[in-house]
Amino acid sequence: MRIAIIGSGGREHALAYQLSKSKKLIKLYSIPGNAGTDGISTNIDIDPNNLEDLYDFFCKEKIELVIIGPEKPLVEGIVDFLLKKKIKVFGPNKAVAQLEGSKIFTKKICEKYNIPTAKFKICNTKENAFEFLSSSTFPLVIKADVLAAGKGVYICKEINDAKNAITEIFDGKFGKTEQLLIEEFLEGDEMSFFIISDGITYKTFNTAQDHKKVGEGDTGKNTGGMGAYSPSSLINKDLEDKILKKIIEPTLKAVKEMNTKYVGFLYAGLMIKNNEPFLIEYNVRMGDPECQTILPLINNDLVDIIDACCNSRLENQEIKWKNKKSMCIVLCSKGYPDKYNKNVEINDLDKFKSSGENFTFHAGTKKTGNKTFAIGGRVVNFVNISNNFSFSRKEIIRRLEKLNWKHGFYRSDIGHKVINE
Ligand code: AMP
Ligand code: GLY
Repeated sequence: MRIAIIGSGGREHALAYQLSKSKKLIKLYSIPGNAGTDGISTNIDIDPNNLEDLYDFFCKEKIELVIIGPEKPLVEGIVDFLLKKKIKVFGPNKAVAQLEGSKIFTKKICEKYNIPTAKFKICNTKENAFEFLSSSTFPLVIKADVLAAGKGVYICKEINDAKNAITEIFDGKFGKTEQLLIEEFLEGDEMSFFIISDGITYKTFNTAQDHKKVGEGDTGKNTGGMGAYSPSSLINKDLEDKILKKIIEPTLKAVKEMNTKYVGFLYAGLMIKNNEPFLIEYNVRMGDPECQTILPLINNDLVDIIDACCNSRLENQEIKWKNKKSMCIVLCSKGYPDKYNKNVEINDLDKFKSSGENFTFHAGTKKTGNKTFAIGGRVVNFVNISNNFSFSRKEIIRRLEKLNWKHGFYRSDIGHKVINE
């Protein structure tokens, strides 16, 4: 099969790596890819926003399946465009990608289908929002109703934080917006829960725990994700049943009642309290870095799984998992998530290719000649699978110390809730 992946992050390198092992694969392209996807696939420098150029390339190269990694092209409708052109594509269409594109859209579904989530209020003006604050208790959460790469969420401890958040959002910090969301603050433990769907049926696609904060002990600013481990220690059969019956199935019912279907990965960001799940948000794709930690645990051919989804055959497709633990630690550029230097060389990264139980997935990297440069905040993901999280973490840190990239940093406490040392 001739396959193209859209995206350039760690998630897309992990997808490319897993697909590259398939016997069904004839040719793999990464658009645009990174220094890590170069070699296991062919990187093609086409702007994913340029749909006509993409289509021309897919026709020229006789691409049989396109896989969309990130949310932005999904929310903007790349799937609808390609399906209209009769190109097989894995990912949800624009209408259902609103599950990530608009938090208010998702909240309205939660309300209609009785899906457990934080209590909320939609506000259309600053005055309206300020007025609501006067009768609120703190902490509370304020969210911009836009795709903001995790940055449009404010956890407010007191009224002045909330006023500041409301002002920033309505003043256009995340682009033009006519509405925002004020939410009850949920206590508990977070978990990332994944399913894969072909529009008719769905299967679970493992769980993970992400560490979003930049600092040790989960402190400091939010990032795209500093590391993750899988499976989550919170998951059990009873909780999984509740997540499926109370959250996933009602959502898929809502999709059906919109007269459309959901094809792709669906990622539920959940808060778990006393073994009860609450939906914080949906993402219409795999998580990053959750994808890097989950995919090495798959025990069958990823091409089979994704192709089955695109052909409405998921029901008969088994998904097998290794009975192992997996961990990912992200090496970042110093300064991230604020300012950091770009185009900084990383020596010797080629010596850390995926092998055995160790995996190296690039994110913000670029190759020039035979040199590798860091061009992003999150630069490389180091993953290890083993029988316990403690061993995996030691193994990853051993490799990070060996690489010894002076311009980078990483969190050495990923998995602290499941490692007692
Ligand atoms: P979101 O982009 O909606 O996932 O929010 C980003 C992060 O903010 C989440 O991963 C949570 O850590 C936190 N968060 C969002 N909503 C809530 C809530 N209602 N209660 C507590 N924490 C929240
Ligand atoms: N790891 C969080 C995300 O992918 O949104």
